[in-house]
Amino acid sequence: MTLTLRYMRLDDVPEVAKIDRQSFSMPWSEQSYRYEVGEAPYSYMTVLEETRADNASGLRGLLHRMQGASTIQVQRHIVGYGGLWSIADEAHISTIATHPKHRGRGYGALLLAAMVQKSIALHAAYVVLEVRMSNTIAQNLYLKYGFRKVMIKPSYYHDNGEDAYDMRLDLEDEAAVRHFKARYAEISHRFDFIDDYTNKPHPRQSQMLKR
Ligand SMILES: CC(C)(COP(=O)(O)OP(=O)(O)OC[C@H]1O[C@@H](n2cnc3c(N)ncnc32)[C@H](O)[C@@H]1OP(=O)(O)O)[C@@H](O)C(=O)NCCC(=O)NCCS
Repeated sequence: MTLTLRYMRLDDVPEVAKIDRQSFSMPWSEQSYRYEVGEAPYSYMTVLEETRADNASGLRGLLHRMQGASTIQVQRHIVGYGGLWSIADEAHISTIATHPKHRGRGYGALLLAAMVQKSIALHAAYVVLEVRMSNTIAQNLYLKYGFRKVMIKPSYYHDNGEDAYDMRLDLEDEAAVRHFKARYAEISHRFDFIDDYTNKPHPRQSQMLKR
């Protein structure tokens, strides 16, 4: 099994939107995802993808062999995704979720840490996000990576009027950055993964450089 962290592409949108619907009471539309991936100049969407190579057996394998085709079949699926907006000195985590079947394995932490590391690469002064007051699982994740609850945004969520915590990680605070870096080293060494996101320019920037 290979794990790859990379930029979200337009052809990922249906799979991502499906996980989104399983994860949030107010999911984004596929159109919103397409805008984030294809148009928004400040948006750095990412996915974490598992790739498995299976050897087709039985009738399926026989058919492949008779057709002279390889019996090795590559299966890919997205196990989590995240969204980061970079505007002036602010980095804003717009979304993060892992597939319900793949939670509790460290993938959410890997995605969050990668987006914070990307914010550092983009020279952000701080990273901010909103989280439901009832979502203690996500709050635990953010606290672990050094985010602090700085204020309450009353009735932030339209579906049930729930308040949000505004949580921030100050990237100009040396102690907070040291704490984050130690956590980042820990999580990125825990997985053997290909990182085509954190230190790679966004595809739209590569296109601009080629012009
Ligand atoms: C929040 C979410 C992304 C976490 O993803 P995950 O892949 O399960 O998280 P990880 O396995 O990487 O766990 C990272 C940390 O999150 C916290 N956490 C994860 N599952 C938890 C649980 N069941 N109970 C309490 N804390 C939990 C812990 O701090 C954990 O660190 P630890 O393993 O050292 O205890 C995932 O639960 C999710 O997709 N939820 C639905 C969408 C959502 O709420 N997104 C956040 C919007 S603000």
